[in-house]
Amino acid sequence: MEYRQLGQSDLKISAIGFGAWGIGGFPFWETEGERASTRSIQKAHDLGINFFDTAPVYGFGVSEELIGKALKPVRDKIILATKCGLKWDKKALGSIKKNATKDSIFQEAEDSLRRLQTDWIDLYQVHWPDVETPQEETMEALLKLQEQGKIRHIGVSNYSVNQMKDCLKKGTIVSLQPEYSLVQRTIEAETTPFCVENKIGIIAYSPLASGVLTGKYDKNTKFSDWRSKGIIGQFTGQGFIDNIAKVDKLRNIANELGKTCGELAINWAIHQPGITTALVGVKNEKQIEENLKSAEWKLDSDRLSTIDEIFSVN
Ligand SMILES: NC(=O)c1ccc[n+]([C@@H]2O[C@H](COP(=O)([O-])OP(=O)(O)OC[C@H]3O[C@@H](n4cnc5c(N)ncnc54)[C@H](OP(=O)(O)O)[C@@H]3O)[C@@H](O)[C@H]2O)c1
Repeated sequence: MEYRQLGQSDLKISAIGFGAWGIGGFPFWETEGERASTRSIQKAHDLGINFFDTAPVYGFGVSEELIGKALKPVRDKIILATKCGLKWDKKALGSIKKNATKDSIFQEAEDSLRRLQTDWIDLYQVHWPDVETPQEETMEALLKLQEQGKIRHIGVSNYSVNQMKDCLKKGTIVSLQPEYSLVQRTIEAETTPFCVENKIGIIAYSPLASGVLTGKYDKNTKFSDWRSKGIIGQFTGQGFIDNIAKVDKLRNIANELGKTCGELAINWAIHQPGITTALVGVKNEKQIEENLKSAEWKLDSDRLSTIDEIFSVN
């Protein structure tokens, strides 16, 4: 496994990271149960993944608890990232609200440390920008937590260039976590160049487009989980059908190389400019094993051009 420095931090994180959203389960995903989820975390660690990303809202605390319990014995060997800024008052999708105020972040940090069974968080990220709260207030809270040793580094997620500029007026952010995959390349225009210029590492989320780029779905697939609800991504309608057609073309290249569509999609993501790591979500050990075959090789330039052509078609 390749390890890469994250922005201006001293963290060296694996080029493929463990995304712990899926194992949080309800109200977003269905899981294969606590045992399968725990084994997938441990398998990821055994196979060289040292970067684990979770959030309080993933399963309303469940994901952080699973990560904390499974990784407690190796806590000092791994890099733990979680988030703040999304609150809920009852365990339902509709009750999730942005809140990046100082008091709320202080409370969230305590809750995360408890659930994760740790004294420190290596990377603490604001999950989504809260436009009701001045960036200054949010940064002040994060800097205070850093001073107290409760968090080591500050990151943001789903932020625009302007929102990152506001943060930088107050302090250092080492990373941005945006959606990035063959079917979602918005960051390439402005965000990636800004991050590269300002030494902000990019943690790409949903590199498999939440499963679409594995090639396991077809145009008639109907999702029963969050993917039917239009939160992020394209899982219904013409956008979904178009993406499935592109994945069918990707499969031809995968077959030529003796690889899977998923391996190609992850490999492509981790080798794009500015990308430090790609966070892949998994449900079991087998998926982790398969996904790790995406590392330590590179697509040749001809195939990269063909892939570009396939995925640039509107
Ligand atoms: N900051 C944010 O706002 C944000 C938003 C989204 C995600 N994230 C982060 O990014 C991580 C990954 O995102 P994601 O879970 O949306 O997307 P992803 O990694 O693009 O896709 C994960 C899904 O792909 C399928 N999959 C993975 N490996 C497979 C394999 N080898 N064979 C077959 N299917 C496979 C699984 O689907 P099945 O469930 O059908 O098995 C899995 O749930 C999250 O866990 C989270 O850490 C962050």
